[in-house]
Amino acid sequence: VLAIWHQLTKAEIPELAKCSVLMRDRSRVEDTIGAMQRAGAGRLQVISDFDMTLTRFAHNGKRVPTTHNILGHRLLIDEDCSKKIRELLNTYYPIEIDAGRTAEDKLPLMVEWWTQVHELLIQQRIRKDLLAQAVKESSAMLREGYKVFFDRLTEQQVPLLIFSAGVGDVLEEVIRQNNVFHPNVHIISNYMDFDQTGVLRAFKGQLIHTFNKREGALSHASGLRVLQGRPNVLLLGDSLGDLTMADGVSEHQNILTIGFLNDQMDERKELYVKSFDVVLVKDETMEVPNAILKCIT
Ligand code: TMP
Ligand code: MG
Repeated sequence: VLAIWHQLTKAEIPELAKCSVLMRDRSRVEDTIGAMQRAGAGRLQVISDFDMTLTRFAHNGKRVPTTHNILGHRLLIDEDCSKKIRELLNTYYPIEIDAGRTAEDKLPLMVEWWTQVHELLIQQRIRKDLLAQAVKESSAMLREGYKVFFDRLTEQQVPLLIFSAGVGDVLEEVIRQNNVFHPNVHIISNYMDFDQTGVLRAFKGQLIHTFNKREGALSHASGLRVLQGRPNVLLLGDSLGDLTMADGVSEHQNILTIGFLNDQMDERKELYVKSFDVVLVKDETMEVPNAILKCIT
């Protein structure tokens, strides 16, 4: 009887057997997916990070730009500023992903990084009307299988909350140009504040960086009406800070977390397996999230 019960409750997903998939507790993952499946699409919400989670980490051996890096386009900022932003990236990104430092340790340094970059961008008086062209000419790229992911969530009327420490205006343009900015997509991010002539003068609201997403979740996400009554959460991220994106979900029942391990694999594997339910090692596709979604909805 127990064996039959198991078959009934466990989700069978062949994609989870790929060698790039690591799980601390496979049985728990299957049980959670099974529970989410029984509850159905009407009880589900998806919360995802953007840069290096919905977008690719690299393509043909070259890094794919993040929303901040797309702003490095010569149309928007001068060469000197672009160089400074790259130098900041080279200084702070290794800190962001350093497995040997705690999130508390990193937090003030991330504030430093984001604040300096935002100040540089503001000094450049970026023009709103050039953003679309900069995105078009960039090598921004969503993960393979992104269309299936976005389209399925729309068909099933499952809200997708994109929670990004990147730049909201750029993020929107990337998904718009890929034809997946559907009505079920909601975004929490750093948005630019333009003056009447369309020139960047500030960033709106509280700064979001990689390690304060919990605050954003509590102050913004928890208030989103479309997410209410959906206690099951599929969470996607590439940073340990992304794990707090669901902290605003009240009365959650089942949360399944998927972590893309893009970089520093050997150093971070253990930590990622401990922290995320499913870890995808050097996987540039949405194959596994799509298979899980297909099973749930
Ligand atoms: P995310 O929350 O959508 O992943 O966006 C945050 C990422 O942006 C984070 O991993 C670091 C990256 N980033 C840059 O690439 N360049 C920058 O100048 C800054 C401030 C962040
Ligand atoms: Mg990210």
